[in-house]
Amino acid sequence: MILTQEQKAMLDGKHGPGTGIAMKIQIKIGESFNAKRLVPITRAHVALSAQEADVWFAEKLSNAGAKCRVPTTVNPGFCLSYFKERNMVSESEAYLMTQTHSAYKNLGAILSYNCTPYHGTNIPRFGEITAFSESSATPYINSVYGARSNREGANSALCAAVTGFVPEYGLLLDENRKGEILVDVKADIKSDFDYQLLGYMGKKIGNGIPVFVGLPKDISPEALMNLGAQLNTSGAYGMYHIVGVTPEAPSLEAAFGGRKPDRKVVIKAHDLEQILNEISEPGGRAIDFAMFGCPHLSLRQVQEIANIVQGKQVKAEIWILTSSHTKEMAIRMGIADVIENAGGHIVEDTCCDQPCWSHLKGKYGVTDSPKCAYYPKRRGINFIIRSLEECVESALNGRVD
Ligand code: F3S
Repeated sequence: MILTQEQKAMLDGKHGPGTGIAMKIQIKIGESFNAKRLVPITRAHVALSAQEADVWFAEKLSNAGAKCRVPTTVNPGFCLSYFKERNMVSESEAYLMTQTHSAYKNLGAILSYNCTPYHGTNIPRFGEITAFSESSATPYINSVYGARSNREGANSALCAAVTGFVPEYGLLLDENRKGEILVDVKADIKSDFDYQLLGYMGKKIGNGIPVFVGLPKDISPEALMNLGAQLNTSGAYGMYHIVGVTPEAPSLEAAFGGRKPDRKVVIKAHDLEQILNEISEPGGRAIDFAMFGCPHLSLRQVQEIANIVQGKQVKAEIWILTSSHTKEMAIRMGIADVIENAGGHIVEDTCCDQPCWSHLKGKYGVTDSPKCAYYPKRRGINFIIRSLEECVESALNGRVD
């Protein structure tokens, strides 16, 4: 790989040993993808997990003096003060989160603890080269903003943040951003929830960049977030195109770069029904809780929940995961009071796949997100998947149809 003088100096440790380690890793990643050079980035997002390996690596770089050279936001772990106060985490779990906090603080990251940075704190412009990890974040910035990032892992994104460079390969190159699979949506896709199910069709869509046709022109930011999050959970998708909606797909021809699709997939209403039946626990039962915010809910979604529960009392607890910014706004606007008075909780900085939820093991809940059902399932938590409105109604009734 051809390195500039600055990149060679980093590799030789002249910018400190931490930057040297990060550069060595970046070069090895580049070599494994046959990248010819490293190119500068302007921002990054690190999908930290607050688990041992993640803390070990962040501390290794931080103890070796590394600092983020570009603005770098981070994913949620869990809100230490909230869960510690309520005795919902063990000493060792709390310790890991404390260590995570100090490692990333020392690295100079923006401690946003939010998995939807593209909705507020970290928004790239068209064509900007970045390093984003996090399943919904990478497809969102590639597809919706036309910015460029490969599907980084937490560690590679952190190395990119520390060096300020990424190897040039994959989705950074024009030729690799063209559509490969034509996805003709015959189902009537209307609500944000429909995009959750459409996104979970990864197995049927298969490997490659999908180009969706048959979707309406007016798609909410939350629906686009859902589509990318679920695509990248049911498969490995760094980007998608929607003809007439996303910026690199003004026409079908432009989306495919003048080439023919490798294959065509048709999605009908019964495909969505089938996937819902496959991934959701059966309904018709009592529930213990409802969980929202995988990815973190937007203010509009939090408001939607408040509108439904206003003046009522839930029979099953509602957990709403969101960013600290959105929670602060909900407090200011009185939305948080409405939700708390109804028996719901708005929790900032927290992911659904964290040990703070171990008290839900063996219980049954509802969620609008297949991704939320997928990850905590490994922790023994059972989910019935329904639309956001149906989930809130279920929490009010204490059961789901
Ligand atoms: Fe966010 Fe965690 Fe879900 S990072 S997208 S809440 S698995």
